[in-house]
Amino acid sequence: MTDVIFGVDYYPEHWSPERWPIDARLMQQAGINTVRLAEFAWSRLEPREGTFDFSWLDEAIEIFMAHGIRIVLGTPTAAPPAWLIQAHPEILPVNEAGQRAGFGMRRHYCPTQPTFHAATQRIVEAMAEHYHQHPAVFAWQIDNELGNISNGNRCHCPSCHAAFQQWLQRRYGSLTRLNQDWGTVFWSQEYTAWEQIPIPLQNVRSWVPGSAHNPSLYLDFARFTSESWERYQHFQMQILRAHCPQHLITHNLMGLFPYVDYVALAEELDVVSWDNYPRMPTSRNASQGNWSPSRVAMAHDLMRSLKGRTFWVMEQQGGPSGWGSLSPTPLPGELRLWTLQAIAHGAEAIVYFRWRTSRMGTEQYWHGILPHDGTPRRRYAEIRQTGEELQRLGALVTTSLSAEVAILRSYDVLWAFEAQPTSESLSYDDQIGRYYRALWRRNVTVDLVTEKRPWTSYKVLVAPCLFVLSDEVAAQLRSWVEAGGTLVLTFRSGVKNEQNVVVDLPLPGALCELAGVHVTDYTVLLSPEAGPPSGGPASLELSIDGTSHLLSTDVWMDELEVSDAEVLGRYCGGPFAGTPAITMKRVGAGRVIYVGTSLDDAGQDLLIGKVLSEAGVTPGIPSPDNVEIVHRVYENVDHWFILNYGTQSQEVRLPTGGIELLTGKVTSETVTVNALDALVVRSQPDA
Ligand code: GLA
Ligand code: GLA
Repeated sequence: MTDVIFGVDYYPEHWSPERWPIDARLMQQAGINTVRLAEFAWSRLEPREGTFDFSWLDEAIEIFMAHGIRIVLGTPTAAPPAWLIQAHPEILPVNEAGQRAGFGMRRHYCPTQPTFHAATQRIVEAMAEHYHQHPAVFAWQIDNELGNISNGNRCHCPSCHAAFQQWLQRRYGSLTRLNQDWGTVFWSQEYTAWEQIPIPLQNVRSWVPGSAHNPSLYLDFARFTSESWERYQHFQMQILRAHCPQHLITHNLMGLFPYVDYVALAEELDVVSWDNYPRMPTSRNASQGNWSPSRVAMAHDLMRSLKGRTFWVMEQQGGPSGWGSLSPTPLPGELRLWTLQAIAHGAEAIVYFRWRTSRMGTEQYWHGILPHDGTPRRRYAEIRQTGEELQRLGALVTTSLSAEVAILRSYDVLWAFEAQPTSESLSYDDQIGRYYRALWRRNVTVDLVTEKRPWTSYKVLVAPCLFVLSDEVAAQLRSWVEAGGTLVLTFRSGVKNEQNVVVDLPLPGALCELAGVHVTDYTVLLSPEAGPPSGGPASLELSIDGTSHLLSTDVWMDELEVSDAEVLGRYCGGPFAGTPAITMKRVGAGRVIYVGTSLDDAGQDLLIGKVLSEAGVTPGIPSPDNVEIVHRVYENVDHWFILNYGTQSQEVRLPTGGIELLTGKVTSETVTVNALDALVVRSQPDA
C-alpha cells in the first residue's frame, strides 16, 4: 500500500446498522482508509460460550470495504463478557490489597489464569479462522493496553502466586541460592519451601511504597508480572500467526507506561502501535488543561526505539477526553499538530480515537471526531485537511529517524525505584525527562533504549540514575566508552546488583573506576517548602570553557571524591559546599561525565551543550521556545518538520531554502510558522 494509513477507531456495535453506511461515507470523504474494529466486542461475537456470531461484523466490514476502507481487527479479550465471569469468577484480578475486582469495567482479567487462556483461545481462534482470508482485513491488534488492569497495577491472585513461585524456581534453581541472593536472613525470611514465598500483598505497613517487602522479591515480582503479559500476548500471537500468516500483528501500547517491559513486549510484534492522548483529564501525560510537547515527543521516541523503526498511533486523541470529567477541548489546529508531531517522530500510521463520541457507557465524555449527535463539525474538517496533507508527504512518512544520542530508560530501574523511591522528590522519569528536554530544546533526535537493547552505535548515552546495574552492562559501558562513546552518569548509579541488593563497593559501584570518582556521602534535597538544607541553599558553580555559571540544584547531592577526573562543577552551598559535583574523565577515545546532583532546565541546557560538543554530535537547528524542529533524511535529502506549539507565530532559519510539502510552496531559508501550525520543508538549496 502506498497510502499513509489514516484511520479511526470505530465501534459498529454502538450504533444502529442504518448509521454504518453514513459513517463509512463520511470517513471516505475525510480520506479515512483504515478502521480498527471489534476491540471490546466479545459479548456480540460470542454471546454464549462456544456460540459465535460474526454476521454483524461481516456486514459492517462489507460496508467499509465498499468505501475503500481497510480493517485492523482487535481481539476483544480486554472485555471478558459477563457470562464468562459468572462461570469463572477466578478470572477476575486481585489487587495489592488482596481484593478481587468485581465485574463492571474492562481489563478485569488475570493474564495467568488457565480458564481465561481457554476462553481466549476460543474467541481468537474463531475470529482468526473466520477472517484469515478476508480481503479487507490486513492487520490485528491483540487485546487492548496490556498491563493496565482494572483494579491496580498487577494481579495478586492464587494463580499468579503459584506461577510466581514456579518462575522463581526456574530462575534460582535452589532455595539456597534464592535465600542468598535475596538476603532473606534479614528479618528471618529464609524460605525452606517454594510455597512459603509470598506474593507482595500490601500486608505490612501499607504506607511504605512497595509495601516494605524485601526489595529483591519485589523486583522479581515486577519482572514476573511483566513476563506474564508477554506470555499472554504470545499466546494470542501464535494463534493469529497460525491462521493469518499474511496479516500484520500489533498491540496498542501506552508510551511511558511503567509496568510492562515494552522492549520485550514489542519484540514479537510486527509493528509497535500506541495510544497518544496529549491532553488527559488527569495528570498521566500532562497537568490538567496543559499538555507537554516534550513529554509526548519522548513517548513517541520511546515507541520508535522499541523496534528501531516507524510505529503506528492506534489511538490519537480526537477530542476532549475523560471518563467522569473532561479535559479541555483540543484547540483549533491541535489535532493536526499532534498528528504531524507523531509523524515527525516516526509514526507511519495515524488512527484517531474514536470516530464518534459514545452516547453510552463509561466513556461518554471521551470525545471522538464526531460529537454525540454524529454531525461532522470542526474536528472532522480538521482531520480531513490533515489526511489530505499526510498523503502529500507520501513515503517520507515510512522512513525512520536516525539518532546520535540515546537515553537509557531501564525497566529494572523503574521497578526498583517503585519498591524504594529513595526520596519523595526523586522520580526516575522526571530525571530522564530533564535530560530529554534539554536535548529536545536543541532539536537533537534522541532514541530511548534499555540496557538490553543495542546502544553501542550512539555517540552519546545518557543513563540517569542507573540504579540497578549488572557487571555485564558495566563492562559493556566500559568498552563502549573506550571505543569513543560519551557516557553521562548521575547520582544513584551502580547502587544495586540485579537482585536489588546494594553493592559491596563505594558508589557508583562497578562504574567507580570508569567515572574516576567515588561517592563519600550523599543527601536528599526535599521540596523547597521544607527549607534549604543544612549548609545553605543547594547550588553549584559549573565552569564550561572558562566561564562560570551559578546553578541551583535539587532532589539529591552526592559528595564526591575524585580519583581521576576533571572537575566541571563544585557545590557552593549545602552540606557538601566546596566539594566536586560534576566531573569528566577521558577514557580511551571516549569520556564519562558524572553528575552528582539534579539540575534545573537552565543547568541542563549548559551541561548538555558541553556533552554534545565533547562528543561531536551534529547540532540541531536552533528554534524559539515552543517550536520543535525534527530533522529527517529521505531520498538523501534533508527534511525538516517545524512544529509550533505556541500561540504566537515564529520564525526559524533553516540551513537551506526548500519546498514546503504540505502546501507545495517554495520557501527561503527563513520560514514563518504560524501559531499551532506545522510546516514540512524539503531542502532544495537552489529554491
Ligand atoms: C525500629 C526497630 C528497628 C529498626 C528501626 C528502623 O526502631 O526496632 O529494628 O527496624 O525501627 O525501621
Ligand atoms: C485507552 C483505550 C481506549 C479508550 C481510551 C479512553 O486508550 O485503549 O479503548 O478507552 O483509553 O479511555
